[in-house]
Amino acid sequence: MSHSGAIRTARAGVNIALVKYWGKASALDNLPAVGSLSLTLDGLGTTTTVEFDDALSTDAFTLDGVAQPLDTRVPALLDEVRVLAGIRARAAVRSINSVPTAAGLASSASGFAALGLAAFAAAGLEVSGPPSAALVDCVRRGSGSAPRSLLGGFVRLDRDSGGVRAVSTGSAPWSVCIIVARVAFGPKDVSSRDGMAHSRDTSPFYAAWVDTHAADLDAAEAAIAARDLSALGEVMEFSTMKMHACMLASRPALRYWAPGTLAALDAVHALRRAGVSAWATMDAGPHVKVLCATEDAARVRAALEPACLGTLTCGVGAAAQLIEERVP
Ligand code: ADP
Ligand code: DP6
Repeated sequence: MSHSGAIRTARAGVNIALVKYWGKASALDNLPAVGSLSLTLDGLGTTTTVEFDDALSTDAFTLDGVAQPLDTRVPALLDEVRVLAGIRARAAVRSINSVPTAAGLASSASGFAALGLAAFAAAGLEVSGPPSAALVDCVRRGSGSAPRSLLGGFVRLDRDSGGVRAVSTGSAPWSVCIIVARVAFGPKDVSSRDGMAHSRDTSPFYAAWVDTHAADLDAAEAAIAARDLSALGEVMEFSTMKMHACMLASRPALRYWAPGTLAALDAVHALRRAGVSAWATMDAGPHVKVLCATEDAARVRAALEPACLGTLTCGVGAAAQLIEERVP
């Protein structure tokens, strides 16, 4: 079947894990060892156009206008889509990140969610309604945090038979935001993927991390249902520190923090001592993301700014969606 001219664009927001994913049950299939629970953000994310074209002899991928070497992840996702849709055409993929790439700000999550949705639509696969199991598993093989960006708001991701399942949790509106405190520039030294393999192979805390994880997911989900920001923040910090303890106990140690990470954490602790419900999390990178009520955002920013290089305030973001505008 010819698929020339089939072109679609999708936009997806980044998501920040409140209960963290770290480690794979299967590296080959990129199957997470643990579930996770996240908040999709507005204002930071990825817009990706996928164009299948019979005239192309290979896939091509540009990111922020720069041609990218075709490592395995993007063509692997396109191969899966071609098999599902029964097409052979290669694709031109053009993507724009409004979030820094590979800096611990979740570009892989919004990147693979936008790519998967645009590729499914361009290939004529089903994209209406909640994300299909096929789409969820396809983007999960691209990046384990990406299925969470297919949905808006709070999202819980759990292992399913052979794959993962992502569901929205606590769908009623809740006026919270995440303030990203940037504490360094540039990409991280060790990718999440390599870091996870290293922790699994060398950290004596890895088994404890996996074994104690499910209880945090349930506690976070209950806190969201009860609109209890302190309970949610407390379990988020617990999950964060357990993950970083597991990383730090790897051999050699995996340390994603910079001096500014501790300065921002101190500012968050001072806010709490002053009675503001502000809670911190860090991913595989040095930046500190602070969860707080929207009404406290100005006060939290004012406390963080002297301690960091700059802040970005993000509200609750929507599900990934197809749009008309194309990435040139
Ligand atoms: P981050 O903290 O930014 O998520 P990771 O190391 O987890 O960092 O993932 C970064 C990788 O994700 C990039 O090197 C690239 O392979 C992939 N990626 C980032 N943005 C996109 C995008 N828009 N489309 C496809 N892949 C992307
Ligand atoms: C620390 O989803 O980027 O941000 O599946 O290898 O692409 P891959 O990893 P990725 O890992 C995210 C790790 C984290 C925590 C999280 O977002 O849950």
